[in-house]
Amino acid sequence: MSKLIAPSVLAADFANLQRDIEMVNNSEADWFHIDIMDGVFVPNISFGMPVLKAISKHANKTIDVHLMIVDPDRYIQTFADLGADILTVHYEACTHLHRTIQAIKAAGMKAGVALNPHTPIAVLEDVIADLDLVCIMSVNPGFGGQSFIENTYKKVSQLKHLIEFSNSACQIEIDGGVTDQNANQLIEAGADVLVAGSFVFKSDNPTETIKNLKELIN
Ligand code: DX5
Ligand code: ZN
Repeated sequence: MSKLIAPSVLAADFANLQRDIEMVNNSEADWFHIDIMDGVFVPNISFGMPVLKAISKHANKTIDVHLMIVDPDRYIQTFADLGADILTVHYEACTHLHRTIQAIKAAGMKAGVALNPHTPIAVLEDVIADLDLVCIMSVNPGFGGQSFIENTYKKVSQLKHLIEFSNSACQIEIDGGVTDQNANQLIEAGADVLVAGSFVFKSDNPTETIKNLKELIN
């Protein structure tokens, strides 16, 4: 199966959002990665529902929403209505994770769980069969443009083993500090989807950067 690229809109030019969305639409990217931050779970606020609504109106690829918010259960139906195809919540933000996963699926979306860099893969053992996506954070969530944490490779291999062992169809996504310097090693370790924010949007030619990254990993 082909390996996927998900540009993170957090690194786009918000004054030219439609232009940047069309760029992704017309590129070889596979998904839109949308970071929602509440200033409580993470020390930053990104954007909220009206902006996602505007993005959804123009985006013609899978919308992958990464919620960095406390108590995400409050907004599951809202994100479904706003056009999210995949809804990812943080393990660290969910007291009743199993219930949250079921609620995401009941709302018609694919269910993802993100793990902070300090959270071990083993905490997912009892929900892995129910998941469509696990997002391994390769930076501490909250900001784009941070450096990749090298311990991520080990976690990707551990997760890959857990997925194979449990016959799960879950995909492995990597989020934070992804560049052409770590992409191959991540794929070799078992990753399926690479999120890339700064590396794509801060490059001279984002369309070309996406194309090159996609070629590199496939
Ligand atoms: C970080 C976000 C990431 C971020 C990635 O909290 O979840 O999706 O936008 O940006 P880069 O690729 O610049 O690290
Ligand atoms: Zn993200």
